[in-house]
Amino acid sequence: MTIYHPPQFWKGKKITLGVTGGIAAFKAISLASYLTKSGAQVKTCLTKNALSLVGKSSFEAVTGEKAYVDLFEGGGEILHINLVRESDAIVVVPATANILAKAACGIGDDLLSTILLVDPGKVIFAPAMNVTMWNNPVVQDNLKKIVSRGMKVIYPVSGSLACGEEGAGRLPELEELVEGIFYYLYPQSGLEGKKVLVSAGATREWLDPARFISNPASGFMGGALASLARAWGGEVKMVVGHVTSRLPWGVEVRRVETAEEMKSALEEEWKESDILFMNAAISDFRPLSFYPSKIKKEGKEELTITLVSNPDILSGLAKNKGNKIVVGFCAETNNPREEARKKLQRKNVDMMVANLIAQGESGFDTPTNKAWIVDCRGGEKELPLLDKRDLAEEIVSYLFNHFLG
Ligand SMILES: Cc1cc2nc3c(=O)[nH]c(=O)nc-3n(C[C@H](O)[C@H](O)[C@H](O)COP(=O)(O)O)c2cc1C
Repeated sequence: MTIYHPPQFWKGKKITLGVTGGIAAFKAISLASYLTKSGAQVKTCLTKNALSLVGKSSFEAVTGEKAYVDLFEGGGEILHINLVRESDAIVVVPATANILAKAACGIGDDLLSTILLVDPGKVIFAPAMNVTMWNNPVVQDNLKKIVSRGMKVIYPVSGSLACGEEGAGRLPELEELVEGIFYYLYPQSGLEGKKVLVSAGATREWLDPARFISNPASGFMGGALASLARAWGGEVKMVVGHVTSRLPWGVEVRRVETAEEMKSALEEEWKESDILFMNAAISDFRPLSFYPSKIKKEGKEELTITLVSNPDILSGLAKNKGNKIVVGFCAETNNPREEARKKLQRKNVDMMVANLIAQGESGFDTPTNKAWIVDCRGGEKELPLLDKRDLAEEIVSYLFNHFLG
């Protein structure tokens, strides 16, 4: 399962998970389990109505922690204050229309609603409900109040709802919930107000309707960069070719297929952007001709295909970049550092990340990468073999510290 956050991010985090009486309450069990397995301490607090839909013991079993329902079950301790004091975040999944109304009005008539009154800055809601409930102006007014008071919201998505209707109100999937919570908890900032463009995935250059030239890029590195740049505060857009990894939560995506399409999409988006991470694996060559019918094998011992060079998109975008920042990527089998330095100068980019193509360990379609960062001011950093999500963090921090900080 691809979830974009540095792998160690949840280690030692303390989360109070609020569960309310929504039909999606069972999905909070997977969330509790994922966060616990990732190293967080998760204490669950359920409303009485949630208990009609899920069992308290499910949460106790997956988190290894006691789950609470009653305001007074702390015995001598003041549970609602202590839980908030010790938590990095109070995450309410799913959040009913009822709990949103209570939070908007300051009602504290049970343990969870009282917890929400203690420190609004720590509260993250993931509302989920029937579409007409969601569109009810009173619910939307309550949301506005909640947001204006510093509480955070992971908005529901559109889709088929448990009630049989279609529309907005569906709880996002586990990956999106985790990335939403990560986004709000990530401690770094500095890309606020910056428009960040990330290209990712592989282009496909078609020879005939059945065959194309491509490469094994999965889009995972680009997804990790986009997610991290967003967590740093950037407004992120992706232009993606073919990808096998899912794309991160909260990022606008534009899809393309060929190098030519990638070029025109990036040229258009670049006009409005401040930073480019050129991570897509773009085919250097394309077939000279496209055969509209499938080329038949019969009677052919050999087939010669003429390839022509694709445009160098990175150089084109970096040529007149002015104050914008361009980060290029190159995948090399030999001397990655030296190759990166040559390309850095030739292509007029600010930073070049070279990664080693080593089957199964680094490069295409692997969860890890061995990389070198070189920059136009002479700086460089050799990195060990890293999870691509950690590498994304290294790249974004390097960019911030050397070009923006
Ligand atoms: C089967 C069932 C499913 C429900 N699902 C939702 C839901 O998804 N979202 C919601 O806002 N309310 C839902 N409700 C209504 C809430 O349970 C109700 O408003 C309740 O008072 C919420 O209490 P709580 O916020 O204290 O948990 C559902 C009710 C039932 C009976």
